[in-house]
Amino acid sequence: MAKSLKSLIVAAFALAVSLTVHADSANLAEAFRVNLPVGIPSELWSYFVPKDNPLTSAKVELGRQLFFDKRLSADGSISCASCHDPQKAFADGRKVSEGVGGRTGERNSPSILNAMFNSGQFWDGRAETLEDQAILPLINPAEMGDQTHSQVIERLEKIPEYTTAFREAFGSRVTIESIGKAIAAFERTLVSANSPFDRYMAGDRSAMSEAAIRGSIVFRTRGRCTQCHSINQAYPFFSDQIYRNTGVAAGHSEFNNLTAKAMSLGKADASSPKFAELSRLDGASELGRFLVTGNALDLGAFRTPSLRNVELTAPYFHNGSAATLADVVKFYVQGGNDNPMRAWELMAVDLTDEEQSDLVEFLKSLTSDDARRNDSR
Ligand code: HEC
Ligand code: HEC
Repeated sequence: MAKSLKSLIVAAFALAVSLTVHADSANLAEAFRVNLPVGIPSELWSYFVPKDNPLTSAKVELGRQLFFDKRLSADGSISCASCHDPQKAFADGRKVSEGVGGRTGERNSPSILNAMFNSGQFWDGRAETLEDQAILPLINPAEMGDQTHSQVIERLEKIPEYTTAFREAFGSRVTIESIGKAIAAFERTLVSANSPFDRYMAGDRSAMSEAAIRGSIVFRTRGRCTQCHSINQAYPFFSDQIYRNTGVAAGHSEFNNLTAKAMSLGKADASSPKFAELSRLDGASELGRFLVTGNALDLGAFRTPSLRNVELTAPYFHNGSAATLADVVKFYVQGGNDNPMRAWELMAVDLTDEEQSDLVEFLKSLTSDDARRNDSR
C-alpha cells in the first residue's frame, strides 16, 4: 500500500473537489456524490473505496440509519453514535467507552472521521477493513451486547423500513455482510479536512496563528513528531499508520507481568489457545498489536493515530490516560515511558514551555470547520 500511496502524484491541495463515484453497472441505484474538503486528494479517496462496495445513495442512507439506530444493540440503548458522536467529532469524550448496561471497555473511542484511510481498524489493527470492523461492536459484550449476528438480522427483518431499504440498496434481505457494507459506505462519507492548516497550505497565509506556525516548525524539527506523525500531501493525516510502542501501555501496573508471560509463549501463533488465554488476563488489552501478530516487537504497540481534529477528542491515547494536549506534549518531552520495547524513534526532547504551548496551538490548527460545527450530518 505504501508504494501505491507514494505513487499518487498530487499537484497541490486542490480546492474542494466534487467528484462523482460510479456505481457498479449491475447496481441501478444512483451513485453517491461526495464533496471532498480542501486537503483531501480525490485520487486518495477513490483508492480507499473497495471495488466490491461502491457508494450509492441508497447504501449510504441505509448505513447512516444503521449507524444512529439504538435498536441494533441488545437492549435498545446504544448505537454506533453513542460512542462516535457527531457532536464530539465522532468520538465520545470518555476515557474508555461505555456500552450496554453501563459496561466499560478498555480502550478510548477514536474519532471515525477519516477512518476510511486507516491501514487497519482499531488501535491494534485487528480488523482489516471498515466492512469487517462495522459488524464487531454488535456482538461485543461491552459495546452493543448482542449474542449473535443472527439476532440482529432477525430484529431488523421485523422492521419494514429496513427490509425495504436493504432491498433497495443490495437487492436482497438483511444479511450481516450487507450491514457491514452499508455502514462502511456511510463511514466513507465522513471525510474531514479544510482546517486552518489546510487553508494555510493552500496559500492563505493568514489562516494559521503565529504560535501555530512556530508550533509546526517544532513539530517537524526539535519535537521529532514527524518521525511517526508524518506530514505528507499525498496522505495528509499526520500518521505513518505504523504500530509503535511509545510506552503508554507501560504505564499500566500489569504491563511487565504481561510482557513476561507474552515472551514465554515463544513463537506461538496468535490464533493459538495460549494467546486466547493470555488475552483474557487483566490488563491484556495493553499488549496491543502483539495480540494480533504474536510478534514480540509489537508488545505494547498501537497505531500512530491521525492528528486531525485531535483538539476535539480528549482524553488521549489508546487508554485515555492523557487528559489534555498539554499532557500529551509533556509525555513526549520525557521521551514517552521507558520500557524494553519502546520505539527507537522516541527520545526525550528538550522543549521550552513556549515551544510546548506552540505545539499545542499547531495541533489545534488541524481542527476542521465541519467537525467543530457539531454537524449532525
Ligand atoms: C460502546 C462504545 C462503542 C460502540 C457502541 C461502537 N464503538 Fe466503535 N469503537 C469504540 C472503541 C473503544 C474503539 C477502539 C477499540 C479498540 O481499538 O480496541 C472503536 C473503534 C472503532 C473504529 C476504528 C477506528 C480506528 O481509528 O481504528 C471504527 C471504524 C468504529 N469503531 C466504528 C463503529 C461502528 C460502525 C459502530 C456501530 C456498529 C461502533 N463503532 C460502535 C467504541 C464503540
Ligand atoms: C515513535 C512514534 C511517535 C512519535 C515520535 C510521536 N508520536 Fe504521537 N503517537 C504515536 C503513537 C503510537 C500514539 C498512540 C499511542 C498509544 O495510545 O498507545 C500517539 C499518540 C499521539 C496523540 C494522541 C492522539 C489521540 O487521538 O489519542 C497525540 C496528540 C500525539 N501523539 C502527538 C504527538 C506529538 C505532538 C509528537 C511530537 C512531540 C508526537 N506525537 C511524537 C507515535 C508517535
